[in-house]
Amino acid sequence: MTKPAQNIFQTSERVARMRASATLGAMQKALALKAEGVDVVDLGAGEPDFDTPAHVRLAAQEAMSRGETKYTATGGTRALQRSIIDYYGREFGAHYEPAEVMATAGGKQAIFNAVVTLANPGDEILVAKPYWVTFPEIAKFAGATPVYIETERNGFQLTAEDVRAAVTPRTKHIIINSPSNPSGRVIPPAEFRKIMEVCAERGVYVVSDECYLRFVYPPGEVFSAASLAPELRARLCIAGSFSKTYAMTGWRIGYALAPAGWIKAMLLVQGHSTSNPNSVAQAAAAAAMNASQDCVREMLGEYARRRAWLIGALAEIPGFKCFAPEGAFYAFPDVRGCLSGRVKTSAVFAEKLLTDEHVVVTDGAGFGADGYLRISYATSLERLKEGITRIRRVAEACAR
Ligand SMILES: Cc1ncc(COP(=O)(O)O)c(C=O)c1O
Repeated sequence: MTKPAQNIFQTSERVARMRASATLGAMQKALALKAEGVDVVDLGAGEPDFDTPAHVRLAAQEAMSRGETKYTATGGTRALQRSIIDYYGREFGAHYEPAEVMATAGGKQAIFNAVVTLANPGDEILVAKPYWVTFPEIAKFAGATPVYIETERNGFQLTAEDVRAAVTPRTKHIIINSPSNPSGRVIPPAEFRKIMEVCAERGVYVVSDECYLRFVYPPGEVFSAASLAPELRARLCIAGSFSKTYAMTGWRIGYALAPAGWIKAMLLVQGHSTSNPNSVAQAAAAAAMNASQDCVREMLGEYARRRAWLIGALAEIPGFKCFAPEGAFYAFPDVRGCLSGRVKTSAVFAEKLLTDEHVVVTDGAGFGADGYLRISYATSLERLKEGITRIRRVAEACAR
């Protein structure tokens, strides 16, 4: 009998501390079922169901025809950097210099760069619950310790007082994500300013993840920390993304805006890891920011229509409790009313939705919020309605 192969890949301590993404797990299950020909309603996806706008795709084709297929500067082309600076000037009255901006391979790389350049082992990184799955993992990779801020008692609204209470002499960063994935919560501008004041006072470096920046529903306001006074921005890195705003998830393009010293360190890391973001995607991203923003408004309008329907529909499901999210494209219902001896956790409930009704949702536990589900409405209203009909059947069966 042959001996089982010994695992010779003993991961490094840093990697051993990391966990696989819960959101990717749900996506893989959905793909496997779809491959078997099952009629799956996928409400797990964290990406727009829209195509990248035609003018953005055209800009990429033109860039390829012009031969823009070589390495670029590590922090991206001048043209893209200019577009980002102009955009923040136009939209938020912010002034950034070229040395304060860099393009990245998605917003994720911007967050990664921002954390690994400053965090040391033993440092604490504040992350509010529920959090995007990647935040704690980046902190762990950097050798730092993620410290969670509980926000449930306040309906998942992060406040300056929460931040003040969580800061210790070891706090290096806070990662803020407004609008939030998964809760859809938006920090009101006045509260955001207060959070920034606490961080400035305590010397905490802020990474503001603006991935869902544009997806705020009236009467909420789009807000970027870039619009704050320079003294509140001295330790601020904005991690931005083209993925959701322009339906460009596969292009892998984002950016960081931060003080020049921080950007310089991030360029060092990026230069020795991915070199530079994809050259063609950079041209497409510049076109996306420079052109009319009507395509973004249209997508927002469609999300708003789905959101309005979904929030009403969730309120009718027995055992579900759901606040109206102010932004992003997720609903985050509390499903503890459906749990019992047979279905003990939201994870089991999510599994049941998949097995009994072929509906994919993401269990809240992966985001640090056991008892909740994340339902993405980045899917057509028709599929959303079908999905909710199926979810309702399972909830009713659990309530019986
Ligand atoms: C909260 C949040 N931040 C950042 C990202 C990263 O986006 P990307 O790397 O595609 O720009 C995502 C993607 O799902 C996200 O949900």
